[in-house]
Amino acid sequence: MGDSPVRINNPDGSVETPSAGEQKKMEAAYKQMKRKMAISEMGKSIKHKVMVLSGKGGVGKSTVATGLALALAQKGLKVGLLDIDITGPNVPKMMGLEGKRLHVESGRIHPAQGHLGVKVISMAFLLEDEDTPVVWRGPIKLGAIQQFIGDVEWGDLDYLIIDFPPGTSDEPLTVAQNLPDIDGMVIVTTPQDVALLDSRKSITFANSLKVSVIGIIENMSGYNLSGKTSPGAKLELSAPGGRTIHLTADESGDWNATLDIFKSGGGEKTALEFDIPFLGKLPFDPGFVRGCDDGVHRIVSEPEGASSAAFANVVNNIQSIVEQTNDDDGLEII
Ligand SMILES: Nc1ncnc2c1ncn2[C@@H]1O[C@H](COP(=O)(O)OP(=O)(O)O)[C@@H](O)[C@H]1O
Ligand SMILES: [Mg+2]
Repeated sequence: MGDSPVRINNPDGSVETPSAGEQKKMEAAYKQMKRKMAISEMGKSIKHKVMVLSGKGGVGKSTVATGLALALAQKGLKVGLLDIDITGPNVPKMMGLEGKRLHVESGRIHPAQGHLGVKVISMAFLLEDEDTPVVWRGPIKLGAIQQFIGDVEWGDLDYLIIDFPPGTSDEPLTVAQNLPDIDGMVIVTTPQDVALLDSRKSITFANSLKVSVIGIIENMSGYNLSGKTSPGAKLELSAPGGRTIHLTADESGDWNATLDIFKSGGGEKTALEFDIPFLGKLPFDPGFVRGCDDGVHRIVSEPEGASSAAFANVVNNIQSIVEQTNDDDGLEII
């Protein structure tokens, strides 16, 4: 290869072209060095890096990671979303990027632009066809993660949100070992006891990775019901668990109630127990499921809705924690 970046410079000043085998090794080392330089550059060009984890699947972690990215973008911030979950292509779906493939130019990977300008890189972009599950052997998967960290042209970002497969596995470890200056992880849980047990595991896992825990988010926390009747009317609602909720409509006849489908307050309890911040509750909202089907996340389809407000609250709490050490912009510290 005439344009090979590697040569052997002998001490006597002569220059040799290495053998094919040597050249291959040296090019691999050169590539690795370039990647290391790009990664250390990322430390500066990406202000905040937040990992999103959960003990088990189905708690809505990808929905939350995507929602956090969008809620930050809504505030005018530059945001990237790195989706390392090979098992479910939910992130590209919610970002309206289903079927996208990676765009590579001059050896650099370029992110796709999702809703609100969020830059997205997803493992799903590597899949041949989403119905064919790809069995990724450990080293290949971990190599892909290293590439996603070192070879992606993210540009300047305020936040990089990283979504993982459920559970405590190799992927977060690889990211924690390769990506410098991670601000910390947020743990997504539902209010169920079993989910809480899993989030305890995630906290222990975070400690073993030496990544700090920013806090806990309780997802699918309660289902908001509202309606209209005559002013001051009394209502009885049958709630889960055989409970009855008694309500009185206000002077305009409006009423609303929160049904705790999976109990409530468990995330807060775990946070208290482990002395870590509770970042807030996100309601159970069927609109999230629709958003996954039609390619528009709830935050984009209903920016003024209750779920968007809940995400805005969680994002404010995250910002006040991760940005307090960097600048003093008057945000309240919780
Ligand atoms: N707050 C919520 N309310 C209602 N459905 C939700 C909520 N969060 C997530 N979901 C739904 O739950 C399912 C699993 O969500 P997903 O984000 O893929 O979970 P995970 O990444 O933890 O496996 C999806 O169908 C999603 O639309
Ligand atoms: Mg997921």
